[in-house]
Amino acid sequence: MPGDSLPQHVAIIMDGNGRWAQRQGKKRSSGHRAGAVAVRRVTQAARRRGIPFLTLYAFSTENWNRPASEVSTLMRLLEVFVARELPSLQENDIRLNGLGDWDALPPRTRKSLARALSATAGNQSLTLTLAINYGGRDEILRAARRLCQDWRQDNRPPGAISQDDLASRMDSPGLPDPDLLIRTAGEKRLSNFLVWQAAYSELYFTDVCWPDFGEEDFDLALAAYAQRTRKFGGL
Ligand code: FPP
Repeated sequence: MPGDSLPQHVAIIMDGNGRWAQRQGKKRSSGHRAGAVAVRRVTQAARRRGIPFLTLYAFSTENWNRPASEVSTLMRLLEVFVARELPSLQENDIRLNGLGDWDALPPRTRKSLARALSATAGNQSLTLTLAINYGGRDEILRAARRLCQDWRQDNRPPGAISQDDLASRMDSPGLPDPDLLIRTAGEKRLSNFLVWQAAYSELYFTDVCWPDFGEEDFDLALAAYAQRTRKFGGL
């Protein structure tokens, strides 16, 4: 695939774990476990293809509304996944990064994530960002609050606020905007994911449920992206 037709940042809404499990007469938790296997598979595929940024929507601010047992399954899965994958992240020079408000996460999940974040901080080949307790509107709101505080402190006029002033107060200001945003399992919406950053992302939807999403599906998305003409509002 020619150089600039490879997206630098791919973001994924990993949907369909529950439906995948249901179709096989299994519990939703087994869908999430299979989803974690897909995370490993797709991360390796991105690494091998030389994509420097991969961002995954692992738990939204709205996912707290699910039954408590499902929430704790997901939190425990994240905790265990990150701990278990740490050696492989190191081996593959992958840096773990985060989006979202992690203060509300169970302490064990937070600790496991924090440990992996600091252990992999120097890795450079791929930045794997997990969005956990993340909502695009919540991120913008928290950034706006920081901005207001800074502005008030320096007594600056609101008219002096630029887009960069807000963007630089988001959760991960070093992360470039996603070039390609993939959503699995058939729904065609953003569901509060990266609402600021995805303003000019190319969107790709597939009916494949996340636990079934493999390397070939990833390549189909990359091939579709390579066909797109990006204009960013120009001609
Ligand atoms: C959506 O499927 C998926 C989630 C809410 C959680 C995503 C979590 C994982 C893929 C597993 C763990 C993640 C990592 C990073 C190890 P759904 O439950 O909404 O499916 P449904 O729409 O079919 O019910």
